[in-house]
Amino acid sequence: MIIRGVNSQTFIAANLARVEQFYRDHLGLPVVKRSVHHLDEKLATITFGFNSFAGAAPRMETITYIEWNPIFYMVPERGFMEEGQTKQDVASPRAGDPKGRWGAGTNHHLALHVPDRNGLLKWKRRLTDLGIHVTGPYNRNYFHAIYLRDPDGAIIEIATSEPGFGHDEAVLGSGFRKQPKENLIGGRDEFAVAFETWPQPIAAITDDFALRGFHHITSISSDAERTERFYVDTIGLPLIKKTDYLDEKGGTHFYYACHEDLMPGSVLTFLGLPNYKPGRLGTGLAHHFTLEVENDAALDNEHRRLQRAGVPISPVQHTRYTKLFQFRDPDGHICAISTPSDFTVDEPASTLGTTLCLPDHLEEHRVQIERQIAFRPAPTPLLD
Ligand SMILES: [Fe+2]
Repeated sequence: MIIRGVNSQTFIAANLARVEQFYRDHLGLPVVKRSVHHLDEKLATITFGFNSFAGAAPRMETITYIEWNPIFYMVPERGFMEEGQTKQDVASPRAGDPKGRWGAGTNHHLALHVPDRNGLLKWKRRLTDLGIHVTGPYNRNYFHAIYLRDPDGAIIEIATSEPGFGHDEAVLGSGFRKQPKENLIGGRDEFAVAFETWPQPIAAITDDFALRGFHHITSISSDAERTERFYVDTIGLPLIKKTDYLDEKGGTHFYYACHEDLMPGSVLTFLGLPNYKPGRLGTGLAHHFTLEVENDAALDNEHRRLQRAGVPISPVQHTRYTKLFQFRDPDGHICAISTPSDFTVDEPASTLGTTLCLPDHLEEHRVQIERQIAFRPAPTPLLD
């Protein structure tokens, strides 16, 4: 397999300072980069990583947010995919609501990983006490999960490793697996779910329940079989589970793996919702997710291969930290393939995320860019 894992997911937010407070103070994730978008320096970005545990290196996945600050202008319909088009769209945005709208061709949520169910309950207690609305813990049959939203409304899930994907079929993805009624909407005890939490307040994030990395990334498909053909036949990911969507009757949920070990962080999933209208890119949604290949040669091969297959695709781009290209799946969802990220090219590993990093050609505009970003203060938090 050429794809070796999930590299990152990139979201759009109205205010990066507010997002930073959420990830750093509430979820305990370190900032690993402050910069501007490689296609247009008017778009400030912030990237979060994960801490290391028990001497192991931190997981490679990262979460990036692009700031789309205007209140009166929509996020460009075509997304930020190519330099000329991005500069043109950012310079002359369309009047309208900048908020994204769920639908076919958008993301649905990003799931982060904790080892066990006690960890979920600790997160539920901690976040609820901070004034953040949390639902769950739900039994998803292959893991347990709680749900919350980032400051712009994007859904964040926290999910456990256990029990894993292999307990209901010997050969993964071999057939459609109906889900137990007690896990489905209408069949589960919502009162018991809402009531369950950790009994004591959780003031500090301790190693036993700190977030380890990604668990999975979920997007919305209007045609599950067409999406399956694309990700299996064209991208080359194995399908590992075909099952019901637990939160909407009639929906399906298909899981794909980027790596044979099925480790958390290597799984993509698609909700099959044939009646959903196309969504709209905007704040509170992801812009794209990124899959990773080993090196530049593998990236160039994949670019040529997808181009030959007729997939709508961007040129290969250098972002300073990685080399990537973006493409669209059959529902129009923006995806990317990149080389591994290296955030130490412009600041030491020990002080990642402490300064605004700019490419050389923008250094002469540093004062102006720093001012633009600093003068967008976050709202005062209600609780902290
Ligand atoms: Fe999920």
